[in-house]
Amino acid sequence: MTRLAVFASGRGSNFQALAAAARKGVFPGRIVLLLCDQPDAGALAVADAQGIPARVIAGRRPGGRLGREAETAYRDACRVAGVEWICLAGFMRVLGSTLLAAYPDRIVNIHPSLLPAFPGLDAQRQAWDYGVRVSGCTVHLVDGGVDTGPIVLQRAVPVLPADAPEDLAARILAEEHTIYAEALRLLLTRPWQRRGRRIIFAGEETDR
Ligand code: GAR
Repeated sequence: MTRLAVFASGRGSNFQALAAAARKGVFPGRIVLLLCDQPDAGALAVADAQGIPARVIAGRRPGGRLGREAETAYRDACRVAGVEWICLAGFMRVLGSTLLAAYPDRIVNIHPSLLPAFPGLDAQRQAWDYGVRVSGCTVHLVDGGVDTGPIVLQRAVPVLPADAPEDLAARILAEEHTIYAEALRLLLTRPWQRRGRRIIFAGEETDR
């Protein structure tokens, strides 16, 4: 069983979906730690309900980069808990070199758009404002940029004419709740390699 940490800043619905999927054996991992930068995040109540150890480690300031000291504290908490992979689930901070060096190609993020379209904050609203007909969600490995790392899996959803931004966000979120576990299943069970920006799973090149 791979030992996973989840980092979250908010409501925690993706964290909850991952915890449920782990329990069902969708992927061979166990969430052993929740780290959170917001003391009032819903994710903390989810951790409590699931019996998953949780800690709040505040960053220097809300939003933006995590800050070097906080990052070292996040890394050390992961090391102490024997964490092998980190899943960002609505963690609204950009990681720096301390965590990236400690977990190279072992940090995953979920983002509510079809990247590289609409990175950053409020992606569903950005997509709705732009007037796209299709949006979706992306699971990707994390690098030093904002939602720029190599893509693992994406899923598209339609944007319907009658949609308010909240309708689109809800349709995307429902897909997020399955695609994240599915991406972890692939990463943890199939040999894969990274070629440039591409993640190639074993056998995939011969799939047609
Ligand atoms: C999710 O939609 C997630 O994709 C998004 O924040 C929301 C968190 O919801 N993440 C980002 O925008 C990262 N750039 P949740 O707390 O209910 O999982």
